[in-house]
Amino acid sequence: MLVLGIETSCDETGIALYHTERGLLSHALYSQMEMHSEYGGVVPELASRDHIRRVLPLIRKTLATANLALTDVTAIAYTQGPGLAGALLVGASIAEAIGHALKIPVIGIHHLEGHLLSPLLSTPSPNFPFVALLVSGGHTQLMEVSGVGRYRLLGETVDDAAGEAFDKTAKLLGLGYPGGPALSELADEFLKSGKPRNFKLPRPMLRSGDLNFSFSGLKTAVLTLTNKHGITQQTRGDIALAFQEAIVEVLTEKSLTALTQTGLTQLVVAGGVGANRQLRTSLSHRSASIGATVFYPELQFCTDNGAMIAFAGAMRFRKSVANSYHQTGSFTVRARWDLELLDTP
Ligand code: KG4
Ligand code: ZN
Repeated sequence: MLVLGIETSCDETGIALYHTERGLLSHALYSQMEMHSEYGGVVPELASRDHIRRVLPLIRKTLATANLALTDVTAIAYTQGPGLAGALLVGASIAEAIGHALKIPVIGIHHLEGHLLSPLLSTPSPNFPFVALLVSGGHTQLMEVSGVGRYRLLGETVDDAAGEAFDKTAKLLGLGYPGGPALSELADEFLKSGKPRNFKLPRPMLRSGDLNFSFSGLKTAVLTLTNKHGITQQTRGDIALAFQEAIVEVLTEKSLTALTQTGLTQLVVAGGVGANRQLRTSLSHRSASIGATVFYPELQFCTDNGAMIAFAGAMRFRKSVANSYHQTGSFTVRARWDLELLDTP
């Protein structure tokens, strides 16, 4: 089976071709980041319009790279939600149109399921069951994953997502949008420089006794620091490091608690913040200390991409659970969509 994957949930157009026997054949991505950075955040209407411009050329490019024709595609998977409604509609309508023309099955995929399963695209890959730490711009969740579609929520953020906290803090430090990667680089540079640290930020909900997170207070704590000390080259790196260390420690310790509570020994990290170097080092180090293994998607599959959607589609088609939440011939997108309720009617 050759699955064409289409991702248009936010500000990245991602297209991929995944073959159930031959693996990932090709993928292409267009990031709208530069266009949105001018406005300091994603502008939904601009995002939708740009997806319209990019989807078909990217599909052609992906097919050409794999030396295949559209008629070779045997199924289509697209991101049905959660995300920006207008952006999702672009992927959904193109997927449905192609599916209708070729008379092939089409499936709507939950964006977070794509992220959750993305480490299975890499080798070595984890086996079910595992604990997944999902850390993206919109979500921060710990999940117990027992199989495709079998997800149990262990804990989640009560306010900002980890990526959102990175981006908002980066904005406060004047690092542009989305500032997560820039903030992380600055923090790493400061750490490498060996300069003495002047700041320490709180570890929100570290001892809350559950697996929930809260990150909005960190941003406020950073604001208090910048108001007091001003933003200079010195304080910027210093604060970036303090912020990164606080968030990394909370994510690491809660992930470890999730492993011990479930008795599982595999941790999968997915979503954009999974690209963070300090988080990776900390998780790998601490997990090894309790005999657990951490699995990461390849860096290019940490942030939004079409490969994870094509792959999740292939998994669902293979498990014959494909159409449990999708009716062929009509489609709806789901701007909000609870992952735990995925396979309930
Ligand atoms: O998964 P993703 O591409 O999109 C969503 O579905 O949200 O995640 C994007 C988020 C952004 O908030 C971005 O700042 C953050 O991931 N991010 C990072 C890093 N790379 C991306 N945050 C911290 N460190 C990084 N290296
Ligand atoms: Zn995402």
